[in-house]
Amino acid sequence: MKLQTVVLNVVAVVASAGMCTTSLTAQKPADIHFDAASKVFRIDAGDMTYAFGVNNVDELQPVYWGQQLSRTDKFPPTLTKPEAASFDSSTTTTPNEYAGWGGGLYVEPALKVSYPDGNRDLVLHYVSHTIKGDELTITLKDIERNLFVELHYKVDPETGIIGRSAVIMNKTSAPVTIKEAAAATWSLPRGTDYSLRYLAGRWAGEWNLEKQAIRPGETVLESKRGSTGHQNNPWFAIERGEHPDEESGDVWFGALAWSGSWRITVEQDQLQQIRVTGGFNPFDFSYKLLPGKELATPVFYGGYSHHGVGEASRLLHRFELTKIVPQAPDPRPRPVLYNSWEATGFDVNQAGQEALAEKAASIGVERFVMDDGWFGQRKNDHAGLGDWYVNPQKFPNGLKPLIDKVHSLGMDFGLWVEPEMVNPDSDLYRKHPDWVLNFTGRPRTEGRNQLVLNLARKDVRDYVYGFLDNLLSHNQISFLKWDYNRNWSEPGWPAVAPDEQQAVYVDYTRNLYSILRELRAKYPHLEIESCSGGGGRVDLGILGLTDEVWPSDNTDPFDRLRIQDGFTYAYSPGVMMAWVTDSPSWMNNRSTSLEYRFLSSMQGSLGVGANLNKWTPEEFETAKRLITAYKQVRETVQHGSLYRLVSPRDGSEISVTESVALNKNQAVLFTFLHSSQMGYPFPRVYMRGLDPKADYRVTSIAASMAKGSPTVASGSYWMGHGVDVNLRGDFQAAAFRFDDVSAANSSH
Ligand code: DGJ
Repeated sequence: MKLQTVVLNVVAVVASAGMCTTSLTAQKPADIHFDAASKVFRIDAGDMTYAFGVNNVDELQPVYWGQQLSRTDKFPPTLTKPEAASFDSSTTTTPNEYAGWGGGLYVEPALKVSYPDGNRDLVLHYVSHTIKGDELTITLKDIERNLFVELHYKVDPETGIIGRSAVIMNKTSAPVTIKEAAAATWSLPRGTDYSLRYLAGRWAGEWNLEKQAIRPGETVLESKRGSTGHQNNPWFAIERGEHPDEESGDVWFGALAWSGSWRITVEQDQLQQIRVTGGFNPFDFSYKLLPGKELATPVFYGGYSHHGVGEASRLLHRFELTKIVPQAPDPRPRPVLYNSWEATGFDVNQAGQEALAEKAASIGVERFVMDDGWFGQRKNDHAGLGDWYVNPQKFPNGLKPLIDKVHSLGMDFGLWVEPEMVNPDSDLYRKHPDWVLNFTGRPRTEGRNQLVLNLARKDVRDYVYGFLDNLLSHNQISFLKWDYNRNWSEPGWPAVAPDEQQAVYVDYTRNLYSILRELRAKYPHLEIESCSGGGGRVDLGILGLTDEVWPSDNTDPFDRLRIQDGFTYAYSPGVMMAWVTDSPSWMNNRSTSLEYRFLSSMQGSLGVGANLNKWTPEEFETAKRLITAYKQVRETVQHGSLYRLVSPRDGSEISVTESVALNKNQAVLFTFLHSSQMGYPFPRVYMRGLDPKADYRVTSIAASMAKGSPTVASGSYWMGHGVDVNLRGDFQAAAFRFDDVSAANSSH
């Protein structure tokens, strides 16, 4: 239903813009087909084909994943691979869509179970399938026991991205313990020239793009922390060939929709075949499935690009905005927000916030967000979490006067919360010390002086939902910044039986999702940001329930260029919040101009987090001018096609990004000179993705093009001849808007 709406919408956009094509194949429906003669399933969607067969031993065996093939191409029946040696059985040499751990399997299984009688062997055979619209469901069953697995393939016709997941069903008469459960295994044929890209980092240093050759053995990307984590993000991209680049070459990519502990393994097996398996992290995992019960895994999305990792990102961005985020398929652009955190810290009060709100409104801010410090006995990070009443000293008449003031200034109001945490110094903890994750009689390790509430417990879940519901029903709050400032320790759940405690890895996250889902249903206009001390909880699971994310607490505008670059490999600029904060930066004491800081943040969803009380009249003027300019391009920046023209990584002297509206009638170019060396001029910038036949008028947002540059030229000119930018010095930036001035008169 949702997918059909999207296709129609995109067609409407294309038609209304008078364009014949976009870079995406919006009009083609997905085609899912089962060839009864060869027993091969074939999926065609976007620009890709995906195929797998029921092989000669009734297992599901991958056949093809890549560039779209001719509809007349037929696959032969799928045959298992032979034993490679007595050490490598056919089970382990034959790729499998979803392998149970059983027989002679030595590569990563998708599913590993244990029965009460000691049996741990699981061999899954094809039973049946159904195809309904864009969804294929396949039922597998163990060769002997009534353990069933339903495999789901949900296909996005526009991008060709497939969402794969599994439901494990215990139809035996005894409990089954699940020790490992993946959503899917993605397979690539034998090859020694694959390389893996993934994202790594830490607090305030997230989103570093790593690249390594795929060698024999296994690379593990994971979080054992109870939530997504800053250290690895559940995204991968695999390129083939010696010299793949941003805009050419084959790329297979994937992202896991799960905000709890997760794992993705990238494995080159003994026959140099590649298998990527992802799902719940099996570390410390155990899930008891009673007779008649089932466990659904998260969804592991996978896609293919024939035009490099740049196109892979654009496909993912498009998919996120049209299929994942709560407002999909047509999310409204992110409003320009102001956030109080870097200005006032915990020291918030009515008069101070109202003064900031007045100043924020004067520069064109649309949403005012009060951050940490407004509740309980919260003077610093030692107390208050868990006590969600408005602090009477700071706000003697509650939040209403501030909210009314914010509304009277023409902005909507947002509030910071950290619902899953408690300080030991709080009324909540004194009353319910048993509500936190803990092992009986063991220490409770604190992080930022706080403990994690066990959201898997029903009473805790109800408390968290209850206080948020109360807050939202008594105050006109349009936006919640939902924070989460530590990872798990001592993840015990003493209130349930020992063999049920590790279900916390599933139930906690499911309850988090259910709270978000229920709040959104009850307050349909509420928007939510996922924050976890910066970018510690960004994944396609949380993005299904939140409208935006906070990528990093590091707000230095130069560091941000790299952070934002890495972020966009996996996630859309349309969900990437970026604040302009004060200079020098608290992070590294670096000084930059206000214009530079704005241009860095304008590459994403713009916010302001500076202390406006310290700004000069000139700074207010600059901010006002740039916020106005941003509003003229934000649809293109947030929802358009991103081209990372020059990367800020690897010590590059410059970096450049370009965003092009989907109907190509506007483009925005951001150029940054980090530190000029040896006096070379700024290199010519070759734009991409424009309509070659259209005429584009250029308008400067900041700084200028080289003397003599045209003000109107064709798309071919800007792409072929290129743009000469006038930048010299250190931490300099320029930005330009290109508007199709021929669009009104002609169709091209
Ligand atoms: C961590 C967030 O990332 C910050 O933006 C801020 O909200 C603080 N928490 C508040 O404690």
